[in-house]
Amino acid sequence: MALLKSKTVFFCKSCGNEFPQWYGKCPACGQYNSIIEQKHVALSKNAPAVRATGAKPQPITALQQEKEIRFPTGMAELDRVLGGGSVQGSLVLIGGSPGIGKSTLMLQICGKLCENGKVLYVSGEESARQIKLRADRLKVSSENLLVYSETAMSSVLEAVDEQSPDVLIIDSIQTMYDEAQESSPGSVAQVKACTMTLMHLAKGQGITVFVIGHVNKDGAIAGPKVLEHMVDCVLSFEGDEHSSYRILRAVKNRFGATNEIGVFEMADCGLTEVPNPSEMLLSGRPENTPGTCVTCVMEGVRPVLTEVQALVAPTVTANPRRTCNGFDYNRGAMLMAILEKRGGLKVSTMDAYVNIIGGLTVDETGGDLAVVLAMASSYIDVPIPDDMAAIGEVGLSGELRMVNQLQQRLAEVKRLGFRSCVVPKQRKGGEVRVDGLNVIAVENICEALKKILRKEH
Ligand code: TYD
Ligand code: MG
Repeated sequence: MALLKSKTVFFCKSCGNEFPQWYGKCPACGQYNSIIEQKHVALSKNAPAVRATGAKPQPITALQQEKEIRFPTGMAELDRVLGGGSVQGSLVLIGGSPGIGKSTLMLQICGKLCENGKVLYVSGEESARQIKLRADRLKVSSENLLVYSETAMSSVLEAVDEQSPDVLIIDSIQTMYDEAQESSPGSVAQVKACTMTLMHLAKGQGITVFVIGHVNKDGAIAGPKVLEHMVDCVLSFEGDEHSSYRILRAVKNRFGATNEIGVFEMADCGLTEVPNPSEMLLSGRPENTPGTCVTCVMEGVRPVLTEVQALVAPTVTANPRRTCNGFDYNRGAMLMAILEKRGGLKVSTMDAYVNIIGGLTVDETGGDLAVVLAMASSYIDVPIPDDMAAIGEVGLSGELRMVNQLQQRLAEVKRLGFRSCVVPKQRKGGEVRVDGLNVIAVENICEALKKILRKEH
């Protein structure tokens, strides 16, 4: 990475690509007005922490098979999202909007981490006193927890050299400042340089590093996407402003699956784990109401029940309004067209709103049938039975298609007290059966509508 001399370069704020000149539209990602000019400083002699590890290339057969060393964080939900505990020497980025609870989560896991090693908590946002107050509230206290309010990267490196912690927590990367860079903290170049330094700490010295990153309005981790490429894991902490529930999701994970979620609830004394998210998502469900249907989606290896709500109402404007919350907009529009053409309901002239309850995002096709049924139920104003769930992908001709892990999903449906579940009919092989659950196999949405809503249209 021998950069010749310092000059200006142009970064895209959206995708993180670098260009030698300015463009109105980013040639890489197509975003308009996202290119900014920044001083590019060459990695000079006094650049901190880019240390050679002294490793040599060697044949893969000569390598010993070593399993990564994992340790628990004391939060089972976080451990699961990380793929079974935190990996020693890994760099984990935790993103989320301000106030969602990132600092709280990090400080809370310190309690457990301190039992096995030294933790250095660096905060560029809060004073040591503020951190102490919060730690008292979270009942975290240990000799092994070192708190350091600092923003200069060089001081952090000195502290790491002095204390040699096992875990380093940086709150947040946007406040960190590398003196070798001329731009201000939070800028693309600064965020990149600081993350690079932290990565060398993690890989070179085997320190486990957790980095907090703020998320901008569009939901991207502020600073370039480049940051995501550099780290081992990217966890996204999400939640509805008005609800106390928080969902931790793995966006990228070099040591495990990415589709795991962890569910937490923010209480007076910090975050508590919600080991049973289905119950949480279904609490407060209205009874005997049109326009709601329960489905089961897979979040990693865990089946999770969630409620899909739809409101289909006559429009007062020339162009009907369509909104999807927690569900793909285009897929919602497609399902509506299928409902009109194959299900025979005249919904195209209606306003339609689809909402997934609890801040969850349904991004797998297994939720299709529930969306169609919820829309149909709202349109004809007939409720779907409260103890019925629906699982299945809907094809363009209105046919229902199989989804993976149906048995597991049905077991979860049964566990939460549902009596029946609509599923796609198996073309080949045996029917799926679960004791005590009435599994209603249907071929297409027309059949499903007739069976469930019991109204001829
Ligand atoms: P915080 O961890 O500071 O958010 P972030 O670091 O992501 O910006 O969390 C702040 C919010 O959490 C704040 O609105 C208050 C709330 N909170 C509680 O409800 N209970 C608690 O015990 C703590 C520490 C915070
Ligand atoms: Mg914070």
